[in-house]
Amino acid sequence: MTRVFSGIKPTGHMTLGNYLGAVRQWAEVDQYRGEALFSVVDLHALTVEHEPARVLRLSRQVATLLLAAGLDPAVCTLFVQSHVDEHVRLSYLLECTATDGEMRRMIQYREKGARARAAGESVRLSLLTYPVLMAADILAYGADEVPVGDDQTQHVELTRDLAVRFNQRYGQTFVVPRAVKPEVAARVMDLQDPASKMGKTTAGTGGVVFLLDEPEVVRKKVMRAVTDSGSGVEYDPVGRPGVANLLEILAACGGGDGSGPAVLAEGYATYGALKRDVADAVVEVLRPVRERHAELAADAGYVDGVLREGAERARGMARGRVDGAYRAVGLMGRG
Ligand code: AMP
Ligand code: TRP
Repeated sequence: MTRVFSGIKPTGHMTLGNYLGAVRQWAEVDQYRGEALFSVVDLHALTVEHEPARVLRLSRQVATLLLAAGLDPAVCTLFVQSHVDEHVRLSYLLECTATDGEMRRMIQYREKGARARAAGESVRLSLLTYPVLMAADILAYGADEVPVGDDQTQHVELTRDLAVRFNQRYGQTFVVPRAVKPEVAARVMDLQDPASKMGKTTAGTGGVVFLLDEPEVVRKKVMRAVTDSGSGVEYDPVGRPGVANLLEILAACGGGDGSGPAVLAEGYATYGALKRDVADAVVEVLRPVRERHAELAADAGYVDGVLREGAERARGMARGRVDGAYRAVGLMGRG
């Protein structure tokens, strides 16, 4: 049976990029594809400066939103990463498999590290080793498929390399996983800065649509989106990235009944008309998620119960493989 694993960091409020690039597929398709696990990867939120109370609050909010988006605890396993010790146990063995050069080449480390240094902040060692922990998240469960947005491609490649290397050195232990990406909206861009991805932690948030934004706020953000100079609506991701982003969002939100962004472009003469349709489509896609979130948020006991059971199941699935990896490298079994 196919095994699926994916994760999301509680570093900020969930965005339309998270939803279209990853979470919607988890709920609509991936959870039914076999045995699926989804994790709020809270340890990954500690790689940059963080406020403890906020990480705690966001972890519960992300879990609640994942349920609101349609993850069904009767179908898949939803849990918080730090509740299952196997991730960190395995991460150390993979630190002994990866090389420092390999880690320093990771694009996210180079970008985030450079940003922190420019701001005069120190760079945590865990920012460098973070992709190894992500590899452990995936390999601990023997996942075949990792549904993620485009920005995670390099991390999944690293995970594959580590699995192959470990297996060659110590014997067949890990499944070699592959990334699975959505056809449209694998990379939703910031509405104010179409050269950057729409991210949870962007400082100015005018270009970021959050899942819990009120409809009027969503509308305002979309109507103020930066478009490109030139007139006429055309799908040209390189020459007109702002308009291309809006067309991709519209396509992903079901505007035009399944037409791709290039075909959708033909139906518009002005940016204004396009933006109005994008705003309507996004508001409609988010409406059921917001409504369900409000219901679930009123019942914290339910969400906590789901997470407790999820962690129990996840532990059961990871334990044997991680123990096997410990023995394979020559560590004494715990008896
Ligand atoms: P993160 O917010 O970095 O924890 O990401 C959780 C998931 O959402 C990952 O699979 C990302 O690839 C995906 N994701 C995050 N931002 C975007 C975006 N702007 N467009 C598409 N996918 C995204
Ligand atoms: N690194 C991922 C991100 O930034 C989150 C993540 C952590 C993840 N562990 C994972 C995604 C394992 C997929 C599988 O989005």
